Amino acid sequence: MKGLLLAGGYGTRLRPLTFTGNKHMIPVANRPILFYGLDHLRSAGIREVGLVLGPVHEGIQEAVGEGRAFGLDVTYVHQGTPKGLAHAVACAREFLGNEPFVMYLGDNLLQEGVGGFVRAYETSRPDAVIGATPVADPRQYGVVELAGDRIVSIEEKPRNPKSDLALVGVYLFTPSIFEVIDGLTPSARNELEITEAIWGLVQRQRPVTVQRVSGWWKDTGLPADLLEANERVLASLRPDRLVNQGEVRPGAVLRGPVGIGPGSVVDSGAEIEGPAVLGENVRVGAGTRIGPGTAIGSGSVLEGCAVRRSILLERVHVEGPVRLRDSILGRDVSVRCARATERDTELIVGDSARIAL
Ligand code: TTP
Repeated sequence: MKGLLLAGGYGTRLRPLTFTGNKHMIPVANRPILFYGLDHLRSAGIREVGLVLGPVHEGIQEAVGEGRAFGLDVTYVHQGTPKGLAHAVACAREFLGNEPFVMYLGDNLLQEGVGGFVRAYETSRPDAVIGATPVADPRQYGVVELAGDRIVSIEEKPRNPKSDLALVGVYLFTPSIFEVIDGLTPSARNELEITEAIWGLVQRQRPVTVQRVSGWWKDTGLPADLLEANERVLASLRPDRLVNQGEVRPGAVLRGPVGIGPGSVVDSGAEIEGPAVLGENVRVGAGTRIGPGTAIGSGSVLEGCAVRRSILLERVHVEGPVRLRDSILGRDVSVRCARATERDTELIVGDSARIAL
């Protein structure tokens, strides 16, 4: 069994956040989102992973290398122009060879991991295993309609969904998928759709197992999704990942699970309510309040502000009595606030922005 982790794609919906670097390197609970996919593949017993890269792939190879830190053997597959998920699979054909493979969309998070997909495959050896879960608004997903266990239809982002079951961003395929992909033509949005490839298997009467996903699943296509993923991952972190390796000065208040990286200092008069994580060499000054669901990147400095349910990347400076909520601040962002604001401020800004309030 091999793994295929997708990190191509333009990430248009996350702009302007991603104007530098690749969206899969945006941290969730202070770890690049892509790392969770690598962990999940490894936990399912997979060793060989193909990592699909698109036109913007800054930082990925530098961070993942040959995959040793993840217990994996990673091969890079260059997709070039991202022409759809089925196109990404076709580009990886040589790497995948004749083996079944788990395909994981690198911007997705699936709490329960991918072990269930592998087990479902091993139970009945179908041609594919797809994951489905009910969602409130299925129109932005691939939607599967079932009659019992039988797939009646699969549609990509339908205007009038026939069910509320969305396809989650994990799939298991066998090499038979290539036969179908070979015959695909670009869809209305000019992509080779994986949903059409799956439908092709169903039409050829090949067995496709639907795996119900019951844990939470998040497609982090939009900034709001990243914030929710950050909150959920923080809430589910094991206590051993939330240790204090920094310095909490007398008079600082910590409540709930809070992880503090080496070299970080929480000054007297600062308050942190977990779940929250601080990277390395973070400084939390007196009068600063950090609320639940917040991840602060290494080298950041917070002075006299309040931040909750937010993601701050590396080296962010926030100074003054601003109250940030549901915010994502890119690397090297500086926010300065002269006067106390009446309301919470929501900022979604890319790297190096300078903001004076
Ligand atoms: P999407 O979120 O569907 O596409 P995208 O990353 O281009 O983002 P947007 O819609 O905002 O422009 O992609 C899902 C995952 O699959 C994501 O991790 C990127 C990856 N992907 C590829 O590797 N190759 C592709 O051709 C496409 C479309 C996506």
